[in-house]
Amino acid sequence: MEKINDILSDNFIGKEASIRGWVYRIRSSGKITFIVLRDSSNIIQCIASSEKLDENSMKELSSLTVESSIEINGIIHREDRAVTGYELLILSYKIYERNENFPITKDLGEEFLLDNRHLWLRSREFTSILKIRSTVFRAFADFFYKNNYYQVQAPMFVSTATEGGSTLFEVNYFGEKVNLTQSSQFYLETLIYSLEKVFTVAPSFRAEKSRTRRHLSEYWHAEVEAAWYNNEDMMRDEENLIKYIIDEVIKNNENDLKIINRDINVLKNIKVPFERIRYKDLMEKAKKDFGLDLKYGDDLGADEEYNIMIHYNNPIFVTNYPESLKTFYHRPDPDNPGEILCHDLLAPEGYGEVVGGGERIYNLNELLDRLKNNNLNPDDYYWYVDLRRYGSIPHSGFGLGLDRVVTWICGLSNIKDSIPYPRTIRRVKP
Ligand code: 4AD
Repeated sequence: MEKINDILSDNFIGKEASIRGWVYRIRSSGKITFIVLRDSSNIIQCIASSEKLDENSMKELSSLTVESSIEINGIIHREDRAVTGYELLILSYKIYERNENFPITKDLGEEFLLDNRHLWLRSREFTSILKIRSTVFRAFADFFYKNNYYQVQAPMFVSTATEGGSTLFEVNYFGEKVNLTQSSQFYLETLIYSLEKVFTVAPSFRAEKSRTRRHLSEYWHAEVEAAWYNNEDMMRDEENLIKYIIDEVIKNNENDLKIINRDINVLKNIKVPFERIRYKDLMEKAKKDFGLDLKYGDDLGADEEYNIMIHYNNPIFVTNYPESLKTFYHRPDPDNPGEILCHDLLAPEGYGEVVGGGERIYNLNELLDRLKNNNLNPDDYYWYVDLRRYGSIPHSGFGLGLDRVVTWICGLSNIKDSIPYPRTIRRVKP
């Protein structure tokens, strides 16, 4: 049994091949039926002709419907008019299942398509997005293995908040109230004391009330933590990571990018190092150069970042946010009071934040003060505080939203299209 993509080659011309898959398109004109068949690898036009098949077979094939499953044996030849340049002349076949009418057709409403996501996923565009997603996930892990990081796992049921109480999902855990994790960061911090450089890929959960183009309530979070790293060291690994992921997509998914109409040159033009700009300077630039009504202290949400990043073709790091805008664990900048040693990585073409990271507070009293100032009880964080008691060291880390990276690389207009089963404020099915 061959895969369709493998037989789309001059080497196969005149040879017999067997393929199996699903009917992608079908049209019949009396003596001839054209069936475009798809499998996971590609599509090919198959031709049923009464010269090779008896009347019953011709009837059976011409009555097939979209998404019926079938195995076909035939001979390959070149056909420039066929959708992928080659054609399979059918000699024999086996039908696995002849469908009733497949519910997904052109011009359907978004809600209908989301309700039928389990079927919509088969579309050619979605298949390509999922292949690119697969490359992004693999490349993320590869990069960190190559750079001597260890992969670790953290729990999803947790008793502490990392990113503030407003986006916590509460769960009844055998009668006790616990939360679904917002981030594995604190657990990763515990693990650097044995492994020094660690990463994890896991879901994070945010009870996001906002309906934006970039928020999911369950998203795939790639997180990294490195002992002895400062903010700049971390940014260097991140820009090389992003470049590596993009290069892998260019290498492995050229055809998929074409299918989803994403201009590969936009990705080829991404260059390292990425520009670093302090939050303070970005706010001035946003006002002066982009005419935005922003001032020091304003938080940057989806809209603000969009309005800034449509002016960029390369990602940028925004560093030194004001203390008031970030969570308690970020390390204050000793040289710039009121600022913290952190960074967000904003993707170009309006996409905005894909990474948040920076240095962590490693002094015990500083951490206790920050917990208190944020009305958090240090007892709840005893294990996190302990890290500053026993062999504390400078360290940094970051969290990258894999769904956001896929959204950007694929040039999608909504994060929902980057993941098979999006979870949002309004949707938990299928
Ligand atoms: O900026 P965030 O909230 O940072 C953290 O959770 C840190 N504890 C990470 C760390 O340092 N280990 O989230 C990190 C990234 C964001 O930059 C964004 O890409 C993604 O996670 N993200 C979301 N992606 C989709 N839907 C959401 N609701 C997201 N919230 C954050």
